[in-house]
Amino acid sequence: MADAAFDLVVRNAQVATASDTFDCDIGIRDGRIVQLGQALAAGRDEYDAAGRVVTPGGVDAHCHLDQPMEAPARMADDFRSGSRSAACGGTTTVIPFAAQMKGQSLLAAVDDYHARAEGRAVVDYAFHLIVSDPTPQVLSTELPQLIAQGYTSFKVYMTYDDMKLDDGQILDVLDVARTHGALAMLHAENADCIEWLTRRLEAAGRTAPRYHAHARPMLVEREATHRAIALSQLVDVPILIVHVSGGEAVEQIRWARSHGLSVFAETCPQYLFLTAEDLGIDDSYHGARCVCSPPPRDKRNQQVIWDGLSDGLFTIFSSDHAPFRYDDPQGKKPHGEEVAFRHIPNGIPGLETRLPLLYSEGVLGGRITLQKFVELTSTNPAKAYGLHPRKGTIAIGCDADLVVWDHRDTVVRNADLHHAVDYTPYEGMGLKAWPALTLSRGEVVWDGRDCVAREGRGRFLRCGRPTLLPQRPEGRP
Ligand code: URP
Ligand code: ZN
Ligand code: ZN
Repeated sequence: MADAAFDLVVRNAQVATASDTFDCDIGIRDGRIVQLGQALAAGRDEYDAAGRVVTPGGVDAHCHLDQPMEAPARMADDFRSGSRSAACGGTTTVIPFAAQMKGQSLLAAVDDYHARAEGRAVVDYAFHLIVSDPTPQVLSTELPQLIAQGYTSFKVYMTYDDMKLDDGQILDVLDVARTHGALAMLHAENADCIEWLTRRLEAAGRTAPRYHAHARPMLVEREATHRAIALSQLVDVPILIVHVSGGEAVEQIRWARSHGLSVFAETCPQYLFLTAEDLGIDDSYHGARCVCSPPPRDKRNQQVIWDGLSDGLFTIFSSDHAPFRYDDPQGKKPHGEEVAFRHIPNGIPGLETRLPLLYSEGVLGGRITLQKFVELTSTNPAKAYGLHPRKGTIAIGCDADLVVWDHRDTVVRNADLHHAVDYTPYEGMGLKAWPALTLSRGEVVWDGRDCVAREGRGRFLRCGRPTLLPQRPEGRP
């Protein structure tokens, strides 16, 4: 049909945005939504979504893909397998991390990360930065330059020897965020407490995976969350606390909010669906699969996280996909060995299951509204990282990134997923929904059976200023 008004029309959709639900057809041309309305003219292609909910494509604002690691560890997913997995689970934008190694220039880390992504991604991607070596050159030149070029968010670690910053360094990078309008993401765990506890556990011969959770109790996250808030208050800059795992950290964030501080928070599926028992109830090594930081807590903390999702405490729901194979010398068994918990690479996979888990158990389970689902998984991450309104909503002019939901019983099986990890922590879990179709800029990337996207079609996105935040004029007042 040469003279069709649209490249594609998605008909009879029950469109859900972060604010509304409405029935309409969606007209798509040149990768963008150009019309929303009833009985639109014919498209070159047509998709009938009758009776189906259609949400904006997911924005996974915290995932790790092909991040350089110290040998022998190696991430299982690169931009190809990771972005395929994202597409098949309804995520159309991923924001992994260009990580600076200590001693490395931040600019070099970004160049290296572009080379890793180039020609591989099947959905669009932006980069956060990880600042692990805030030298005067990084603070005065590289970071400001990168922020101006569209890398407007960076993560700071308060733990992990190769990544962590001390409080003075954190103040320095927060000051750069304030001056240049970037958003700092903080990994809040107290490194010294963890080291002290780890040594005591090791001295007592307690080195099985389950002791990872003993070395990182809620208290160490609570203390670091409190400190991160105080540091941001001192500098007077908004921050986002990533992967919040339970009640004591939530209390700190509620306190900050009640005092008018701009403290945003992110949580992840593992804090809703896993507990510390998934790291093992005995000394078996299987629990290494669920070793991540902070560790999953207990049922009571899971409920606190659900409450925080529904009542607005959390701004963003991300996967923190950190893909290491279980039965692999580059994964959870370094050099092929069952090692002490301190040597197990941290992280679990979750890019593909993030949206189906929250849609099924949150929306269809009656715990959160459909609007809240869209806000947490798409609109807010797009706003926080300066990608809205191009990404994160369904409106005229936006990229046609859409998910059509199929309400059907399904069981999570790793064999059906598209990442390169040899397990999912959610194996055997029954869900009530899965994406029937994912569109990225109007192109089908997941048709409900296969990933049909061309490798390399994903585009790099430069991020603007975070629009969740109060806007400051350029430069420090
Ligand atoms: O255990 C985790 N979360 N690994 C990924 C790195 C991080 O801290 O997010
Ligand atoms: Zn982290
Ligand atoms: Zn992470």
